[in-house]
Amino acid sequence: MKNGSSWEAGSASKVVDELRSLADARAVGARLPSTRDLQHQLGVGPVTVQRALARLVTEGVLVTRPGAGTFVAARRTARVGDTDWQQVALGASPVSASGIDVLLANVNSTGFQLGTGYLDAGLRADSRLAAAAARAVRRPDAWGTPPMAGVPELRSWFGREIGADPDQVLITSAAQSALSAVFRALLPAGSPVLCAVPTYPGALAVARSAGLVPVPVPTDADGIRPELLERALAATSARLLFLQPTFANPDGGVLAHARRREVLGICERAGAFILEDDYARWLGHGQVPPPPLWRDDDQGRVITVCSLTKILAPSLRIGAIVARGPVMSRLAAMRQVDDFLVPAPLQHTAVEMVTGPGWSAQQRAVSAALRARMGTLTAALAAELPECSFENPRGGISLWLRLPRGTDDLAVASWAARLGVVVMSGRYYVVGEQDASYLRLCVAGIREADIPAAVALLAEAVRAGAGTGTDLPPHRAMTG
Ligand SMILES: Cc1ncc(COP(=O)(O)O)c(C=O)c1O
Repeated sequence: MKNGSSWEAGSASKVVDELRSLADARAVGARLPSTRDLQHQLGVGPVTVQRALARLVTEGVLVTRPGAGTFVAARRTARVGDTDWQQVALGASPVSASGIDVLLANVNSTGFQLGTGYLDAGLRADSRLAAAAARAVRRPDAWGTPPMAGVPELRSWFGREIGADPDQVLITSAAQSALSAVFRALLPAGSPVLCAVPTYPGALAVARSAGLVPVPVPTDADGIRPELLERALAATSARLLFLQPTFANPDGGVLAHARRREVLGICERAGAFILEDDYARWLGHGQVPPPPLWRDDDQGRVITVCSLTKILAPSLRIGAIVARGPVMSRLAAMRQVDDFLVPAPLQHTAVEMVTGPGWSAQQRAVSAALRARMGTLTAALAAELPECSFENPRGGISLWLRLPRGTDDLAVASWAARLGVVVMSGRYYVVGEQDASYLRLCVAGIREADIPAAVALLAEAVRAGAGTGTDLPPHRAMTG
């Protein structure tokens, strides 16, 4: 059964399609039936009809004449001449979307969602967000120019959460733009950047798109391996390490307490910065997460990035870069070059959300749901896929599933999609060669009750992928 809001969205888009067909069947300038007649004809309410008409007006399919009705608009097809010259002018692309293109396409895929890192509508704080946004847009200063580094209340709040002063905080458009700004501000194109692997494909994409060369440093159950970090720094002279010390995406791992000082010491001796992606700060599974690595440092070595999108909603694109020392002015300059500023209404919405009475309840609800979902996922995997292995995630949204030897992760992901389960291939999370295949399974967007059925289908896909990897089955009707 689908939840209410996705059912409504589905019904609304069906009405749009039906009205589009009505318009297509009529001549240009023909009048559409009245809203009341359309309501009866399509069996929906007046608001749904009005919204569908408005959408088709925006698309240029219909025009409205106040007092006269809605009419079929003149059909215009944009002329497309010979664009082949572009291929010559564009040359090789500097943009690398590898992995995030699949990740973002997955967000809106139908089926059991083990692919998205964003919360399902049932867990999001949509109605509180709507109320907060309504108040935020009415503030007298809503549409002016906020301070370039962010509104003071929000800088103070992020500062308190991370353990920093407000002037050490820059507000950003969530974590993705923050990572991009830090990579580009710190390193010229062509530089190596060390990445604890497996890692988040979005970070690899921004690094590669900035002309940087990601160099993998393996992790184990305690996080990044210090002896290999030392070797990688010596071999590459890299000046930046990208790390997720808390509930890493994809394996939910945590940098062991004993390793925190060691990693900082190694980077100190090499003169390297650490970019700490603290995207999961509020995604513990009931326990208090370890403090940000930022707190173990007073030399400005650690630059921390965090975001509200994972705990509240993907469209609340608010995050922060936390840094100290001369690097701060370089980061502030990069942010201005990129964006000028983050829209004030969105910043004020975030302030309302994190300082309002619902904030603790949201954290508790998300944390309890993630813990329950992860428990159900690990139990189902143990029962259905004993030939696969994984470490229990310590927190966060995802699990890193090792596939049986010789299994192709892309083939398994394709089979799974066809069977109605969305998962991410592990290859996007690594750099260079690896001796095993993995899937990243995410519990942010799936209801707990759907997990056993999703894993049963996934088991079918793994067994199919372990075989020939050919003859994909037809797409199965959506079940979840
Ligand atoms: C580890 C990690 N960092 C950063 C991001 C970017 O998140 P956002 O830009 O939505 O805050 C993501 C999103 O999936 C992520 O998994």
